[in-house]
Amino acid sequence: MPSNFLTVLVLAIPALGAEKVQLSVDASRPGAKIDRNIFGQFAEHLGTGIYEGIWVGLDSKIPNTRGIRNDVVAALRALKVPNVRWPGGCFADEYHWRKGIGPNNQRAVTLNPNWGGVTEPNTFGTHEFMDFIDQIGSRAYLSINLGSGTVQEAAEWLEYMTASQQTSLAKERAANGHPEPYDVPLLGIGNESWDCGGNMTTDYYLSQLKLYSRFVRNLDAAQQKGAKEMLKIAVGPNGGNTQWTEAIMKAYQARQWSWDMQGLSLHSYTVVKWPPAFASVSFGVKEYSQILKSTLEMETLVSKHSAIMDKYDPAKRVALVVDEWGTWYAQLPGTKQGFLSQQNSIRDALVAALNLNIFARHADRVRMANIAQMINVLQAMILTDGEKMLLTPTYHVFRMYLPFQDATLIPVTFESGSYTHGDVTLPRLDAIAARDSSGKLWLAITNLDPEQPSEIDASLNGIAAKSATAETLTAPKVDSINTFSAPGTVQPRATSATIRAGKLTLTVEPKSVTVVAIH
Ligand code: AHR
Repeated sequence: MPSNFLTVLVLAIPALGAEKVQLSVDASRPGAKIDRNIFGQFAEHLGTGIYEGIWVGLDSKIPNTRGIRNDVVAALRALKVPNVRWPGGCFADEYHWRKGIGPNNQRAVTLNPNWGGVTEPNTFGTHEFMDFIDQIGSRAYLSINLGSGTVQEAAEWLEYMTASQQTSLAKERAANGHPEPYDVPLLGIGNESWDCGGNMTTDYYLSQLKLYSRFVRNLDAAQQKGAKEMLKIAVGPNGGNTQWTEAIMKAYQARQWSWDMQGLSLHSYTVVKWPPAFASVSFGVKEYSQILKSTLEMETLVSKHSAIMDKYDPAKRVALVVDEWGTWYAQLPGTKQGFLSQQNSIRDALVAALNLNIFARHADRVRMANIAQMINVLQAMILTDGEKMLLTPTYHVFRMYLPFQDATLIPVTFESGSYTHGDVTLPRLDAIAARDSSGKLWLAITNLDPEQPSEIDASLNGIAAKSATAETLTAPKVDSINTFSAPGTVQPRATSATIRAGKLTLTVEPKSVTVVAIH
């Protein structure tokens, strides 16, 4: 928690049964806006993330609209997903957009060497992605090919998508069904250029960044300035690599008019160690604690990179964009190599809440993030199996956190206490608060302790609270999951919260995420 929010510390008082925690919310000291883009998602051509997860094809028996499955669209619409990063990931640096346009049944079949070496039918291309974005009510975050592509290829993709004048590419777009320019609000200039994106040095990447930033233009005048200006996001560090951040931000500070960027990406997975070895199912308190401990390192990473960015960009023009985050476990037994299939438990729900809390507390710099990934891959929102679909515990956290989208951060102070298992010690509690545009106060509390509930006693400064309602997500065991035969094992339910003499009291259950609305 940033020190400026730690104004009052009141000790946790142990009591019989539940731990008592005093918490203080100060609505008279509003902080930064929590940009809704921190709830962004990532959909890569990987495993069954796109094919089966989103795209079932025009002739599928699974109910669909123009080949895009209706159940998934309905579930995602409910999340108000602010942006979707596509087509990768490592895939993006081998993606050639021309293969994904034209009559759907005449597309070239290529390969996806990054992810299982399977064939790539290219039936989900530019128009299908933009249709999907439209159906779920989101916005496009396009990741362009800086690895195996050229500046010209990327520039032409943007011309194809955004030119409003009658260029040949704009006419081709119209012939393919979309006369109007598409909105491309977010552009990623490369992906992991320090690794799968071409193993570049910072100097080499910087010279590429300058070229792509200059020449890959959004040609729609309406998207060149003002509220709709397309934002360019440069490749940033791998985890704790501060040298990369230093180099890019130093160049940014010294930049000339001919190039610019508005975001710097950060990739960091909750993995503990590579190759990923933690199981996503059938684990115990030890692995639960280790994963939560590991995910909390996001705070250190964000603080470290933010400090460097502050040095070169004190006005905070450049956002830190955590555009790949989430758990990365060992491949689920019985699934295809390279498909990154894993289950999603109550542990993942806590991982999601803890990371969203970190991003929210750094709202002045972290203005966008994309969980990896949306469907069937890594820490997914949704799992599908043929015509069946289920919502994961992570999905439920994103749904519960909807009120925090574009809300104003409100400082919360508390002494979390601690929970220890073996050699792992965790804070027992985490919390954030925010005020939405209607003036309503929201408080999200995560109880990391897998065994003890906590009794919360919250003072509410700067708000005349009358009543409160709350929703909580917990589960019978630390490894509880939703399955196709039991999809409701981990799902939110109402819980009681009381306002008395302007104070809020409630009990949060072990291993739970609770969101309280204070009216
Ligand atoms: O999300 C899976 C992969 O992880 C992405 O393709 C890549 O960018 C990262 O290494």
